Amino acid sequence: MTGERAPTLSVRDLRVEFPAAERGATVKAVDGVSFDIFKGETFGLIGESGSGKTTIGRAVVHLVEPTAGTILHDGVDPARLSSREFRAARRAWQIVFQDPNAALNPRSTILTSVMEPLAVSGVGSAEERRRAALQALARVGLPEEIGARYPHQLSGGQKQRVVIARTLTLKPELIVCDEVVAALDMSIRGDVLNLFAELQRELGLTYLFITHDLSVVSHISDRIAVAYLGRLVELGPAEAVTENAIHPYTRALLSAEPAPLPSHMRTGKRILLEGEIPSPINPPSGCHFRTRCGHAVDLCAQRAPEWREIVRGHWAACHFAEQFCSEENVAGEKAGATLLGG
Ligand SMILES: Nc1ncnc2c1ncn2[C@@H]1O[C@H](COP(=O)(O)OP(=O)(O)OP(=O)(O)O)[C@@H](O)[C@H]1O
Ligand code: SF4
Ligand SMILES: [Mg+2]
Repeated sequence: MTGERAPTLSVRDLRVEFPAAERGATVKAVDGVSFDIFKGETFGLIGESGSGKTTIGRAVVHLVEPTAGTILHDGVDPARLSSREFRAARRAWQIVFQDPNAALNPRSTILTSVMEPLAVSGVGSAEERRRAALQALARVGLPEEIGARYPHQLSGGQKQRVVIARTLTLKPELIVCDEVVAALDMSIRGDVLNLFAELQRELGLTYLFITHDLSVVSHISDRIAVAYLGRLVELGPAEAVTENAIHPYTRALLSAEPAPLPSHMRTGKRILLEGEIPSPINPPSGCHFRTRCGHAVDLCAQRAPEWREIVRGHWAACHFAEQFCSEENVAGEKAGATLLGG
C-alpha cells in the first residue's frame, strides 16, 4: 500500500495544546506525532480514551489549530494558501463522527441536510445540489423517498449513511472516520464498515480510521498506529502490529482483547493494563507509558524514547524495542526506508 510513493497526508511533530480548567495549566492533547498516509489507504488509529485520537483527526482536517508541527496535503501546507484557496481545498478533507444525531438538524428533512454542505459552499444551482444529494443517497444505499423524512424517522444505521452521503457530496479525498460505528448496533456495524470499504474502492478514498475497538481496526486497516497520552507508540502494517506487536502498550492492549487473540498470544498470559491513563496536563517524564509498563527502568523516566523504525515499515517508541521484537521480526529487514511508515 505504501511503497516509495509520496504521501497524500504528511504529519510532522504535531502538537496540540488546550488551556486547562486550572489556571495557567495546559492540556498536551497531542505531544509530537508524526506519520504519513498514502492515497487509497485505510490508516487505523487506536488508543484508550483521552490518548488524543480525535484531536489528531480534527487537526488533520483543520478543525483545530496545531500549537506546533506541520500537516501537508499532497505536499502543500494549507497555511500557505489564500483563504479562498483554503476554503476550496478543505472540501477534500472531511470528518465523520460517532453520533449522526449531532450532525443532522432534527428540523430539516434528510434531503435538505444532505444538500447543506453544497449550499454553504455555494456549489452549483439549487437543482444541481438536489440531484447531487439524491445521487449521494443512492450511493450509500438509501432510497429516494428517505429524502423527504426527518432524522427521528430513521434508524441509527440509516442516519449514519445519511451523514456519509452528505460528506460525499463534497467529493472528498481524505475522510477522518472518528468512531463511526461505535454508536451502532453490533448487527449493522458490519454493513456500515462494508459501505466504507465499497466507497473506498469506487472513489479511491483515503481513510484515517479512529477507533478504540481493535476488532474493527484490524479488519479494515492497511496500517495501524497506536496512540498513548498524546504520542504514537507504534505504527506498522496491520498484520505486523496485531501479530507481532513491539511496544509493551500495544501488547497489553492486544492481550486484553477477549477474542480473537493474535496467534502468538493465544497460549500466552494476559498482560494487565492497570490503572487509568495519566493526565495530559502533567504527563510522566521520559516515556509516557512508564507508570503502567512492567518493563520500566530508570532510563524510561529520564529520557523519552525516540520514534524509530525497528523493522522496515514498523515503528515504535521504546528504549527496548529490539528486545520486544519477535524473532521473526528481528530476522526481517532492518530500518532503511526514508518515508515515515513507508
Ligand atoms: N477543547 C479542549 N479543551 C481542553 N481539553 C481538551 C479539548 N479537547 C480535548 N481535550 C483533552 O485532550 C485529551 C485528548 O482528547 P481526545 O478527545 O483527542 O482523546 P480521544 O483519544 O479521542 O479520546 P476518546 O477515545 O474518549 O474519544 C483529553 O485529555 C481531553 O480531555
Ligand atoms: S521505554 Fe521503558 S517504560 Fe516505555 S514502553 Fe519501553 S520499557 Fe516501557
Ligand atoms: Mg475521540
